Amino acid sequence: MNKLTSLLGQLVAKHVQHLVPYASARRLFSSASQSTDKTAPVWLNANEAPVAGDYQIDSDLYNRYPDCQPDALIAGYANYAGVKVSQVLATRGADEGIELLIRTFCDAPNDHILICPPTYGMYAISAKTANIGVYQAPLNDDFSLDIHAIKAFKGQTNLVFLCSPNNPTGNQLALEDVINIVEHFADSALVVIDEAYVEFASYNTTALIDDYPHVVILRTLSKAFGLAGIRCGFTLAQPEVIEQLLKVIAPYPISAPVADIAIQALSSSGLTTMQAQVTTLQMEQTKLVEMLPTIGDIELVGQQDANFVLFKTTHKDALMQFLVHQQVFIRDQSKQLNLAQCLRISVGTAQENARLISLIQQFYAIQEATAL
Ligand SMILES: Cc1ncc(COP(=O)(O)O)c(C=O)c1O
Repeated sequence: MNKLTSLLGQLVAKHVQHLVPYASARRLFSSASQSTDKTAPVWLNANEAPVAGDYQIDSDLYNRYPDCQPDALIAGYANYAGVKVSQVLATRGADEGIELLIRTFCDAPNDHILICPPTYGMYAISAKTANIGVYQAPLNDDFSLDIHAIKAFKGQTNLVFLCSPNNPTGNQLALEDVINIVEHFADSALVVIDEAYVEFASYNTTALIDDYPHVVILRTLSKAFGLAGIRCGFTLAQPEVIEQLLKVIAPYPISAPVADIAIQALSSSGLTTMQAQVTTLQMEQTKLVEMLPTIGDIELVGQQDANFVLFKTTHKDALMQFLVHQQVFIRDQSKQLNLAQCLRISVGTAQENARLISLIQQFYAIQEATAL
């Protein structure tokens, strides 16, 4: 062991020693690790939008620190979400909102958050990096909330994370279940509703913030708005909750170019573009949903209330390998609770989806031929 390794072994925080970093889509397959052949890679593994918008940036003030919470950005999102400006906090993606909530409302090492797996991985990772415990109330077989199991954690958790539509199962939670949970935890925990995919779904829960002051909603520009690259998300909550989060947030979380771009995305023409993109993706998703179950042993899993499709196959490893070899990247979800054999496809452009379907068909044709 060299000197530095042994020094780090002494210094690194105990709870960090055994942590494994989140295996994000981009860490698994980075854009730099593409093969050199001429086929353009197809990225269908991070639930991003498949096309980028066109934005202007103005570098005149880049010599100055930006505002912590730029007024025009906050006003733009409040207007879009139908909430008051005092109820909006801008963050570096919804991921920073998750982290801030945990760092602000949980004390290490005794406090816990509650999650409902299979669900988005960052709730647990963020908790563990802050040395906060994670309780689990797994979803029912149909991926609805297990109300009874969740309620049993009253008094033992500071934050309850509900993801709706849920990643990776794609189902929007029943509103009556969400309200049932919210009411149950009224005097003991904040209930965080992660609406990263809300633009693809049939309802949103913003009205709950006024009825239930312990509700917090997470949003992002990474999905329907097609801006995953700028890292911009929002936490919607009562001003008193936001006031606490502002104690913990970095002094300049939103860089000036990010604010410039996000403000354009939230303008009325930006919103029209976003809504048109959602409609196109939903049409593409319908095609995938019709085609996939007609191929091989593929069975759809969950619902399609977001911009992705989850399915299972007994050939998931071989299929993944085949697609990676062809520079088409989808996401293996089989390590998630109750999702053995499941893979997730983010809906891409018509051409990308057509290429994917054609490759999946080729894969099963080869399987059948070799089985003969
Ligand atoms: C449910 C859910 N919440 C939050 C995020 C993170 O979003 P952001 O890019 O805004 O950090 C994701 C990203 O995949 C997600 O699936």
